[in-house]
Amino acid sequence: MQVIESVAAFRQAYDAAAKPLGLVPTMGFLHEGHMALVHRAREENATAAVSIFVNPTQFGPSEDFATYPRDMDSDLAKLEEAGVDLVLAPTVDEVYPAGFDTHVDVGRIGERLEGEHRAGHFHGVATVVCKLLTIVRPNRAYFGQKDAQQCLVVQRLNEDLNLGAEIVVCPTVRDSDGLALSSRNVYLSADERVAALSLNRSLRLAQELHSQGESDAPHIRQRMHELITTSPLADIDYISIADANNLNELDTIDRPALVSLAVRIGKTRLIDNVII
Ligand code: PAF
Repeated sequence: MQVIESVAAFRQAYDAAAKPLGLVPTMGFLHEGHMALVHRAREENATAAVSIFVNPTQFGPSEDFATYPRDMDSDLAKLEEAGVDLVLAPTVDEVYPAGFDTHVDVGRIGERLEGEHRAGHFHGVATVVCKLLTIVRPNRAYFGQKDAQQCLVVQRLNEDLNLGAEIVVCPTVRDSDGLALSSRNVYLSADERVAALSLNRSLRLAQELHSQGESDAPHIRQRMHELITTSPLADIDYISIADANNLNELDTIDRPALVSLAVRIGKTRLIDNVII
């Protein structure tokens, strides 16, 4: 496994690498959710590449960039064991050298939900993913469904700027109690972790109501709201039931819908979703 810090060195490794090449872009602190993407990239490509870069431009000024969990040694050991060939682990200066001044705006799809609650977040995501796809030039790039809106943003970006990767979206990986895996779960105390289960429970409630024939989106949102607010530790940012293709909020569920939510449990902000 080659661990590469510079863009120039990655270009050389790219030229020598067998194709097709699959990339898993990550911010490190790898858990089983990331590893499911890595295993899939390993199975489907001649070269498996992973990027590890905690991208400062997708964190707001009051967010957790400085304290975001990092563990490069453990990450590299996991990737080595999974048979990864190339790891791109650049410094912030390598990705954003002095004078850097170009940003990618994906437009409408990035404005709602996370975009509304985390100003500038998707400019940062789109800019860094655009750079990663341009540096690494993967045939396939793997993303997790847990970040559903991010997947839509990346698909839009890839298509609009002709970046040429196949974007592969992989299912959310959950702990046995249903909590979606996230690097931020390490912030949760024991009590908060119990409270965090309400995200998945409310999504299952939405699925259940819908499968019983309920198509009134405000009613389902209300029931989810009631379930989550039974916990005093939970503070809801949003609950959305939206058209899964364009994220327009729905009144009646008459097409594939993304049910998504963001909830603060103590100081930790968690997101989760299902498609119904
Ligand atoms: O999902 C993530 O970990 C990040 O948003 C990504 C796609 C690696 C871009 O920094």
